[in-house]
Amino acid sequence: MTNRSPKLVDGMGRTIVNLRISVTDRCNFRCTYCMPADNVAFMDRSNLLTFEEIRRVVTVVSKLGINRIRLTGGEPLMRKDLPGLIKMLSAVDGIDDIAMTTNAYFLKDQAQDLLDAGLKRLNVSLDALDPEKFRDVNRRDCLQAVLDGLDAARNVGFKSIKINAVAVRNFSETEIMRLIEMGRADGFEVRFIEFMPLDADKVWERDKVLFGHEIIERIREKYELIPIDNSLEIGPASEYNFADGKGKIGIITAVSNPFCDHCNRIRMTADGKLRTCLFSADETNLKELIRSGETDAAIAATIQQAVQVKEPGHKINLKDFERPTRAMHAIGG
Ligand code: GTP
Ligand code: 5AD
Ligand code: SF4
Repeated sequence: MTNRSPKLVDGMGRTIVNLRISVTDRCNFRCTYCMPADNVAFMDRSNLLTFEEIRRVVTVVSKLGINRIRLTGGEPLMRKDLPGLIKMLSAVDGIDDIAMTTNAYFLKDQAQDLLDAGLKRLNVSLDALDPEKFRDVNRRDCLQAVLDGLDAARNVGFKSIKINAVAVRNFSETEIMRLIEMGRADGFEVRFIEFMPLDADKVWERDKVLFGHEIIERIREKYELIPIDNSLEIGPASEYNFADGKGKIGIITAVSNPFCDHCNRIRMTADGKLRTCLFSADETNLKELIRSGETDAAIAATIQQAVQVKEPGHKINLKDFERPTRAMHAIGG
C-alpha cells in the first residue's frame, strides 16, 4: 500500500503533487515563442535520462506524495518508444494520472499506442487555424497534420483533450473565435496562455502579450461564460463554462495574474535537472545522484530540500526579473 501522506510541502505551505518530466529538448517545430529558427544546440543523447532512470525518479517522488505526471518536451513524441515509458510509469504504485503536452504532429500514428499504454490526458499546442498564421508562428507548414492528430486522438477515445494557444497581441485576435468554435464542436477545452518571456529569440515584451481578460471580453461578445470556482487550485487555468452547456474554456494568465500561490508542481528536464519553478535560476542535478549510485533515500532527501526553498513565484512583473538561461523547449513548458 502506498503511503500517500504528502511529504513535499514547500516553505510557503504549498503541497507538491505534480511532476512535469521533459523527455527531450528536441522538436520538429520551431515555434517563435519557444525556439530559435535554426542552429539549436540540443542536448547530447548520453545526457538524457534513460527510461529506467526516469522510472526511478518517479518511484521516489510517488512515495513523497506526487501522484500526477505530465510528459513534455520539446516534443515528447520525438523520443523513441514513448508508449514504452508510459507503460513503465503507469505501473508505478501511487501514480494516478499520466498526461502529455504535445504538438500532435505524430499523434495520428501513435494515439492508439499511447492510450493503450495508460496515457490519460492530452494537451495539444495549437495557436492558429489559419494555415498561413500557423506557418508563421510554428515555422512549419503542418496545420493539417496537427488536425489529423487531434482527430485520431478523439477517435481512439481520449476523454480529455485540451488545446493550448499562446496568446500574442496582433496575432491571436483573429484565431480566438475560430479555436473556440472548433473546441465547442469537437469537445476540446481551448485554453489561451499569455505569452511568457521564455522564447529563445528573446523578443518577448509586455506589449506582445494578449491578456486573458481581453480574450474573455471578446468571447463574451458572443457567448455567456460562467467562471468555474476553484479551478486554479487544480491547475494553472482559470476556467469558464459556456452558459449554454456546450463545453468550457480556460485562460492561463501567467503574466497578468500569476497563479504561483497555487502552484503544486515541479519539473525535471530531459537531462535530469530538477527545477522547482518554470523560471528557476537554480537546478538540482538528479542525474548526477542517480549515476553516482546514491540511494533512493538520498535522492528523496535532495528533492525535499529543493522543494523546501521553492521560489514563491516568478518575477516577470518585477524590476529584478531575469530570464531563465534555458528556453522553453529545454525546460519542458
Ligand atoms: P493540466 O492543467 O493538467 O491540463 O496541465 P497544464 O495546464 O499544467 O499543462 P500544459 O503543459 O498544457 O501547460 C499549459 C501552459 O501553462 C503552458 O504554457 C505552460 O508553460 C504553462 N505553465 C505550466 N506550468 C506552469 C508554471 O508552473 N508556471 C507558469 N508560469 N506557467 C506554467
Ligand atoms: N509563453 C507561453 N506559453 C508557451 N509555450 C511555449 N512557449 C511559451 C511561451 N513563451 C506553451 C506551448 C505548449 C506549452 C508546453 O507551453 O504552447 O502548449
Ligand atoms: Fe516545439 Fe512545443 Fe516549443 Fe513549439 S512550443 S517549438 S511544439 S516544444
